[in-house]
Amino acid sequence: MVLSHASSSRDDDAVASTFASRYVRERLPRYRMPERSIPREAAYQIINDELMLDGNPRLNLASFVTTWMEPECDKLIMDSINKNYVDMDEYPVTTELQNRCVNMIAHLFNAPIKEDETAVGVGTVGSSEAIMLAGLASKRKWQTRGRNRGNHMTNPTLSLVLMFRFAGRNLQGGNVPIHVDAASGGFIAPFLYPELEWDFRLPLVKSINVSGHKYGLVYAGVGWVIWRSKEDLPEELIFHINYLGTDQPTFTLNFSKGSSQIIAQYYQLIRLGFEGYKNIMENCQENAAILREGNAATGRFDILSKDTGVPLVAFSLKDSSRFSVFDISENLRRFSWIVPAYTMPADAEHSSSSGRTSAGASPSGSSRTSGRSCTSWTRAPPTP
Ligand SMILES: Cc1ncc(COP(=O)(O)O)c(C=O)c1O
Repeated sequence: MVLSHASSSRDDDAVASTFASRYVRERLPRYRMPERSIPREAAYQIINDELMLDGNPRLNLASFVTTWMEPECDKLIMDSINKNYVDMDEYPVTTELQNRCVNMIAHLFNAPIKEDETAVGVGTVGSSEAIMLAGLASKRKWQTRGRNRGNHMTNPTLSLVLMFRFAGRNLQGGNVPIHVDAASGGFIAPFLYPELEWDFRLPLVKSINVSGHKYGLVYAGVGWVIWRSKEDLPEELIFHINYLGTDQPTFTLNFSKGSSQIIAQYYQLIRLGFEGYKNIMENCQENAAILREGNAATGRFDILSKDTGVPLVAFSLKDSSRFSVFDISENLRRFSWIVPAYTMPADAEHSSSSGRTSAGASPSGSSRTSGRSCTSWTRAPPTP
């Protein structure tokens, strides 16, 4: 006789419906690794459901990064997600693509590159890393110069300037090397303001950083730093390793990183070309104008941002006696729009009639042709 046991608890996971399986009914430890494994479908469902509480990136006007790319590029990203960028010997084509990006961007910034030369630069995780590398290079150059001259080392001087603030400043005279933080503006000015001399056309500009993930139109995780010439990046800072095969020169703060963002940047550069970037930046600017005009037409806001420069709209309330920009931000959040409100820095109070708070949004997300989602300043709005 065959005895069979009918399981009263019906704990067969294969038949349990998604939201009745024990994996979704038992609480997972929050800060400790669970003892037991769970099926991949359950892991996916649990995490996916929790992430639903995040904001929607496409409606996030507070982010300064790209939130939409073409499906073809998404595919390239997924295809290369398992490549460690630093394994240059194993992935020489990826290295070649980063070099092409460096050269394209250097030419965009008018680096003085001779016919038989290649540009000097490196892909980074973002502008923050890029700025640190540029600062390190400049400091080391200053140290070496001082040592060679037998000088007593005092403090190094590097002028770090924010791009749209820098343009228009008279920087003639003096001999202070300049690093330009063109995190956003580096992918705007070459297309919208080609006559603006802010880049390597100025002899004192020794290095420039730009965020690939801002107006470079790539998802978060890529920036660039470009040096004027080999002389501006001291050789002793370049880290040479050969344990993976051939000599691999690197100059980044982190060793390993993904390749996808580099490949995605290359995709955007060749897919859009100068024409495509120009169209998107123009469209962002048109959208900013529409948003600005609509906003001003309500009669309730003072527009703080300028019409030129980075395409964004920053505003304060004319009358904040009954509610503040923080209330506006909160109410927009109810409709899933994320528009940041923030306190102005002390020395920018004059730009707000209502005190020291403002809100802002860049209109690129609603753009008709742009793949870039909305962004806005999370700090003080810029004075382009
Ligand atoms: C002017 C400026 N520099 C640097 C950064 C940092 O850039 P990233 O987020 O690419 O590290 C930002 C970010 O918004 C920025 O606006």
